[in-house]
Formats: sequence, C-alpha cells, structure tokens
Amino acid sequence: MHVCGVILAAGQGKRMRSSIPKVLHRVGGRPMVSHVCAALRAASVERIVAVLSPDAPEVAEALGPGVEVVWQYEPAGTGDAARRALPRLAADDLVLVVCGDTPLLRGETILRLLREHAAGGLADDRLCASVMTTEPPDPTGYGRILRDERGRVAAIVEQGDLSPANCAIAEVNAGIYCFPGWVMATYLPRLQPANAQGEYQLTDVVRLAIEDGRTVQAVAASADEVIGVNSRDRLAEAEAIHRRRILDRLMQSGVTIIDPASTYVDAEVSVGRDTVLWPQTFLLGATVIGRNCEVGPGAHVRAATLGDGVRVQYSMVEESTVGDNCTIGPYAHLRPETRLSAGVKVGNYAELKNARVGEGTKISHHSYLGDAEIGAHVNIGAGVVLVNYDGSVKHETVVGDHAFIGCNANLVAPVKVGDQGYVACGSSITDDVPRGALAIARQRQTNIEGWVERRFGTTPDGDNHGGPTEDKRQGPRK
Ligand code: UD1
Ligand code: CA
Repeated sequence: MHVCGVILAAGQGKRMRSSIPKVLHRVGGRPMVSHVCAALRAASVERIVAVLSPDAPEVAEALGPGVEVVWQYEPAGTGDAARRALPRLAADDLVLVVCGDTPLLRGETILRLLREHAAGGLADDRLCASVMTTEPPDPTGYGRILRDERGRVAAIVEQGDLSPANCAIAEVNAGIYCFPGWVMATYLPRLQPANAQGEYQLTDVVRLAIEDGRTVQAVAASADEVIGVNSRDRLAEAEAIHRRRILDRLMQSGVTIIDPASTYVDAEVSVGRDTVLWPQTFLLGATVIGRNCEVGPGAHVRAATLGDGVRVQYSMVEESTVGDNCTIGPYAHLRPETRLSAGVKVGNYAELKNARVGEGTKISHHSYLGDAEIGAHVNIGAGVVLVNYDGSVKHETVVGDHAFIGCNANLVAPVKVGDQGYVACGSSITDDVPRGALAIARQRQTNIEGWVERRFGTTPDGDNHGGPTEDKRQGPRK
C-alpha cells in the first residue's frame, strides 16, 4: 500500500476577484498551494498528484519538483477534479485528498488523519473514508457535516443546499480526506451534477458510500489549521494565524517580541536567543539574526545575516551581512552585497551598496558608499559621497585602515585612499591619496576685507540690523 496525496488546485477562485489563480495567492510570502504541498511532504507522503487547470499552468511551478500534474480542462467541481487523478491511482493506494486553498494545514495533522483512519478501519470493517472536520467561529460557506441519530456521519451538505434548520450546524467539512483508491474509483464515476452549474461534488462520495452500507468517520482538527481561503478576508485571517504561529515559535525559543500584532517574520527566518524585536519590524526571506540583538522599531530586514548584539533602528537592510555589535540607523539603508565587520556604526541617512566595511568604522551621517572596500577604524564624515557612476560604468573606491574622510568630500571612483590617509572636508578627490597623506582638493578660501561696507554702506556692527538682504531689496545706499 502506498500513500498518495492529491491536491485539488484547478478551481477558478472567483470569490477572490483576482486575475491571479487563487492557490497562488500568498500566505507568509509563499503561494498557498506550496504550503499544502510542503505539509504532504512533511507527512512523508511518497507521491503527490496535483490537479491543475490549463488556464493556470504557472501553478505547477509553485509545487516544486517531483509532483505529478493532471489537468482538469473545465472547472466542473471538486468531484470532477478528483476524478482527473484516478488514472494515477491504484486500488490499494491510500489517498489523501487535500485542497490547494488550505495553507495552514500541517504535516503532523495529515499523519494523525492517516493514523485515525487506520485505527478506525480496525474497529469497523465497513469504514471507507475519514474526513477532517472542524467547528470554525463562523461556519458560513463551508459544507456542513450531517450526522444520523446515532451520531455517525451521514452526509456533507454544501452551504447552498442547506435547509434553514441545518444552517445552525457548527461542524464543517475541512476539505481534507483519506480514501482508499478503490473507494474513489468506485464512487467518483457515479457522481451526478449537484447544482445548476453542473458541478460534481467530491463531498457526495460520502453520501453514496453510506447509501451503500459503508461508514465514514470524522476526524476533528482545529479551526485555525484547516481554514479554507475562498475570499480576501479569509486570506487575511490565514495570514494573521500563520504569522502568529511563527512568532509563537520564536518566543518559545527565547526571543522577546514586544508587540506580536505589529511584527512580521517569514517562516524561514531564524532569530537567536534574547534578541528583542520591537514593533513595526519586518524580517523577510532567508534572514538570520544572532543573539542579543535589538531589532526595530521600524526595521525592514530582507535576506540578511546579522551577528550577535546588533542594533537596527528605523532602517532597511537587504541581502547584506552585518557583523557582531554593529549599530544600524536610525534611517540607514544597507542595499544588497554590503558586508559590515564587527562594531561598525552606520547612522542617520547613510546608504551603502556593494560595500565591504572593516571593523569599528563609523559612517554616522548622510553618506553614500557604493561599490567600495572600506578598511577598519575609518571615519566617514557627514555628507561623504563615493562617486561610483560615470554615467555608463560603476567604479570601485578603496579606503585603507584608519583613514579619515572629511565632511562633504567626494571620492570620484576609481580611486584609492591609503591607510591613515586624510581627506580634507569639501574635497573632490580624483587621484589616489598615498598612505598617511592629507589630500585637499578644493578652492582655497579668499577673504575680501571690507566687502560688505563697500557693497551696502554699513559695517557688521553698524545700525543696519535688517541685514544685507533687506538692504539689497531697497537698493544699496550710496
Ligand atoms: C469545499 C467543500 C466544502 C468544504 C470546503 C473546505 C466541495 C463541494 N465542497 O468547498 O464542503 O467545507 O471545501 O474548505 O468539495 N477545485 C478544482 N476544480 C474545480 C473546483 C475546485 O480543482 O472544478 C479545487 C479548488 O482549486 C480548491 C478546492 O478544489 O483548491 C476546493 O474548491 P473550492 O471551490 O474552494 O471549494 P469550497 O467551496 O471551499
Ligand atoms: Ca475552498
């Protein structure tokens, strides 16, 4: 006996009002259908067959390698979709049928369904299917579980077919089933269109099998886990639950999260012990954060690696590596390929791109460092700009250890400043600065004595407190 997963993912998802296929809408940054696929993989399901629509062949890419694809050419309901998988299934396969729009499903829950199906079969030799059910806060829109007078599952009734009395039934079908292959092969071909749209409903398999004297058992799941996303409001609900799950895992592992409601962390992010995440923090992609960091408020960190003891405040860090005990921000932007050694300070309104920075260097105010190799213990003054782009090509700047780049200097790349080189403020450096030299590249200051008096007929300590500007407006006194 093989366990085989069938993912139904060919529906149009009309209720989403979207031009994107429903199962590709993202939860936690990943398409919903990839979550479902990952849950089956986590439950060690050997084979996975996905039923897709030729109108949305791109869904196949979200499934990853090793998933077999079958096509449902017309969207004729979940029963018809499941029928498309029959040629790939053997009679003695145990088939897990799941929907592509239940992104919060976990591998352990699938395993539990399999276990309970096996146990149910031992207790009752007429058992032919297990259906996951749940009691969500609002059952509207889900198929309801009808039970007979002895409490056994009798049928699944869709929202549109409910009698007023049955609307109150709290137990709903989660859309996750365990069937032996032969049950599907027996009953799917017998389905009749269930509504005016001519849809064949997978849920009718339950009724047909029970009419045949077989039994179906319900296996309870938590409502959070089996939420089916048909609309944007349910998508937001799923996103919130998914996000909270990740944050709970982090908190359990020793991370402090000041305000979980305003902290956004992707599934693959790892955060070290005793790190504190302040509000409005976004940790995205394959981000790794060390221990004892203070991240946020207002941190946007994507695909970056931060060492231990790093502080990031109101800043953006993308595809960069930050060494231990660095301070980033407030209001700094580390763009891709930036690598900071330990103890670097990048402060207010600094932007770095493709820059390696040595230990203990300070870049505290208003600078742009692009395509650079900056040494250790360098001081980058306020307003320093590495002029890396000549309009067609990017060039590199190299600054040696213990160099000092004065305020408002431009280093016009390609250019090198040697170790302990000094650049006077306001310089535009176009030639290399040798080790230990001071470079000054600006017009010398000229003071023109008595200029104001000659221009305006006043002296600095004279009676004209309105200042030269006002005088200029009135015209100079002769
Ligand atoms: C379905 C169940 C409902 C259950 C709910 C759980 C049926 C008839 N109803 O309703 O009892 O409470 O899921 O979330 O099964 N699909 C196809 N081809 C189609 C139609 C759908 O592949 O022609 C796929 C969809 O892509 C989706 C899944 O089947 O992933 C379920 O379809 P959906 O339309 O979302 O069913 P619900 O109305 O939510
Ligand atoms: Ca659904």
